[in-house]
Amino acid sequence: MALSFLPSLLLSLVVFFLLHTTTNGAKKSYVVYMGAQSHLFDASLQELDTVTNSHLDLLGSFVGSTVKAKDAIIYSYTRHINGFAAMLDEKEAAEIASAWPESRSFQDTGLGPVPAKWRGICQPGHEDGVRCNRKLIGARYFNKGYAADLGTPLNKSLNSARDLDGHGSHTLSTAGGNFVPHTSILNITNGTASGGSPRARVAAYKVCWPVPNTDGVCYDADIMAAVDAAISDGVDVLSMSIAGAGGIEFFRDGISISSFHAVKNNIAVVCSAGNDGPTPETLSNVSPWILTVGASTTDRNFANYVSLGDKKQIEGISLSASGVPGGKFYPLISAANGNYANTSTTSALLCFAGSLDPKKVKGKVVLCLRGENARVEKGSECLRAGAVGMILANNVTDGNDLSADPHVLPASHINYTDGQIIFAYLNRTKNPTASVTDVKTLLGVKPAPFMAAFSSRGPSTIEPTILKPDITAPGVSILAAYTEAASPTGLDNDKRRFPYSVLSGTSMSCPHVAGIVGLLKTRYPHWSPSAIKSAIMTTAKTQDNTRKSILDSSTVEATPFAYGSGIFGWAIWSLSIS
Ligand SMILES: *[C@@H]1O[C@H](CO)[C@@H](O)[C@H](O)[C@H]1NC(C)=O
Ligand SMILES: *[C@@H]1O[C@H](CO)[C@@H](O)[C@H](O)[C@H]1NC(C)=O
Ligand SMILES: *[C@@H]1O[C@H](CO)[C@@H](O)[C@H](O)[C@H]1NC(C)=O
Ligand SMILES: *[C@@H]1O[C@H](CO)[C@@H](O)[C@H](O)[C@H]1NC(C)=O
Ligand SMILES: *[C@@H]1O[C@H](CO)[C@@H](O)[C@H](O)[C@H]1NC(C)=O
Ligand SMILES: *[C@@H]1O[C@H](CO)[C@@H](O)[C@H](O)[C@H]1NC(C)=O
Ligand SMILES: *[C@@H]1O[C@H](CO)[C@@H](O)[C@H](O)[C@H]1NC(C)=O
Repeated sequence: MALSFLPSLLLSLVVFFLLHTTTNGAKKSYVVYMGAQSHLFDASLQELDTVTNSHLDLLGSFVGSTVKAKDAIIYSYTRHINGFAAMLDEKEAAEIASAWPESRSFQDTGLGPVPAKWRGICQPGHEDGVRCNRKLIGARYFNKGYAADLGTPLNKSLNSARDLDGHGSHTLSTAGGNFVPHTSILNITNGTASGGSPRARVAAYKVCWPVPNTDGVCYDADIMAAVDAAISDGVDVLSMSIAGAGGIEFFRDGISISSFHAVKNNIAVVCSAGNDGPTPETLSNVSPWILTVGASTTDRNFANYVSLGDKKQIEGISLSASGVPGGKFYPLISAANGNYANTSTTSALLCFAGSLDPKKVKGKVVLCLRGENARVEKGSECLRAGAVGMILANNVTDGNDLSADPHVLPASHINYTDGQIIFAYLNRTKNPTASVTDVKTLLGVKPAPFMAAFSSRGPSTIEPTILKPDITAPGVSILAAYTEAASPTGLDNDKRRFPYSVLSGTSMSCPHVAGIVGLLKTRYPHWSPSAIKSAIMTTAKTQDNTRKSILDSSTVEATPFAYGSGIFGWAIWSLSIS
């Protein structure tokens, strides 16, 4: 079976051993050895052809096209040995041999030849293109709609399906990433990473493109071209972590129209509900043929602790692995008092970039207030001003809504009530001090799951009589593969690189469901997309791990306009917590 994902961006891993043989002018013949074939002696001619085509695709991605690859290849080893011999110049050979910074989640260990029914391609493009293997069996990019709107010629580096921001690697590996033991995530955890359908073949169709200072943009023109290609390539499941503006009529919405054609062709389509909650009527992707997924928490927290000089200890959450140096106490300052002479106390309290004076802040733990600017940007400002740690306190309207972020310095995000405790401690103490511990992973957290505040809510404004979303799935602090082209915070001055990272959003919950759809499709090949959707919705539960109704942002009871038919995959999920 093949899963396919939008938008995607990707990373693949192929292991090469390059053996040099004979010389002919500038080009020399090289053997590219990729291990053993896993098919048996009775492989059909068609299967052998598929292997050769995969060699041509791979070689083509280095030499520029499959036509050039056909000229260069002298042998394709298809029966027992997996590899090929080709005439290459030194530079091409060096490129093939270099270790691409590729994700282990897309390694093809243990997988046989690419299924004969697969008609997709590994699209050659810009030199920094994508290499496919027997796991990542396709990669295409669609940028003509984007280019048309931009009106200026595209930067050539955009002619590639390569993942430059991590979203595609994360979503694709959540749905179909292979088992990867001993994986560290942001230096915090260490365990086996795997997608919902770990043995699935995956393909990426990149349709979303960068726009400065935004999350990027995905044009209907590109989405429709990608889905059209995916249907003809032979995918079984489409996972679309894209949400457009809500409130668009079914037949004026590119995702709605193209997914209709996919479902007509027996392809299950899973989409994100959107991240515009908790306001009602904020849903995207409400067509009845789509499986629409909201986002909720899991029973896992990444916790650390703030200790105050008066011995009070407060629990917060964070993804910055280490605590303050030596676990010692340091002077504590409210960011409002750390301002430059030319900066207002209000912008300093919010830790705006350029607001904190190193003379006041250096070597201290800084208490910043949430709001206005990005949370990780506040951490970045504290680090710039020489702070040893940051405490990020919620403002009153944020209540208990906390977010584990990969801050660039030791940091802890605490709730409103706890923030007030620290402000009061600062007010009444002459030499206030604080310490922040390392992060540890807490399991079996209760109550869980509860709805994420950001998950878009129904009812559908297009057709209120169809209940949407259909289901909710894990979408908060999700661990999965990442690109090493970007830092975990996305900030330019953050030079850290990790092969796995943590993201939150309905983009993350959607591929959880797509992975399980893949398993169901493998187990019950004759089930239609509607039968699969029905099975998933009718096995959902509306109680959490305290046997009470699912909560909304951990405070009041949630409604079906938040979670649809309930928590997805209860049987599987409850195993992991018992
Ligand atoms: C094209 O993109 C590359 C990589 O992001 C960048 O280094 C280069 O400056 C860009 N070129 C132009 C003309 O914008
Ligand atoms: C995870 O733990 C295993 C076993 O203790 C160790 O061999 C491995 O190096 C660790 N991985 C990382 C990335 O820290
Ligand atoms: C992650 O941990 C390793 C091993 O302890 C260390 O060398 C590395 O600097 C850490 N990376 C970051 C970004 O903290
Ligand atoms: C405020 O003062 C600091 C230190 O003197 C200076 O670096 C910064 O550029 C000033 N900011 C503005 C907005 O003038
Ligand atoms: C905190 O939230 C309140 C209520 O929304 C708002 O009026 C206030 O401006 C916020 N404080 C800051 C410093 O942003
Ligand atoms: C947040 O505040 C409440 C008090 O309203 C407290 O009981 C709770 O434990 C706090 N911390 C977290 C991490 O939710
Ligand atoms: C701390 O003092 C400031 C300034 O006097 C005041 O605005 C604030 O309300 C006080 N905070 C608490 C929690 O007592």
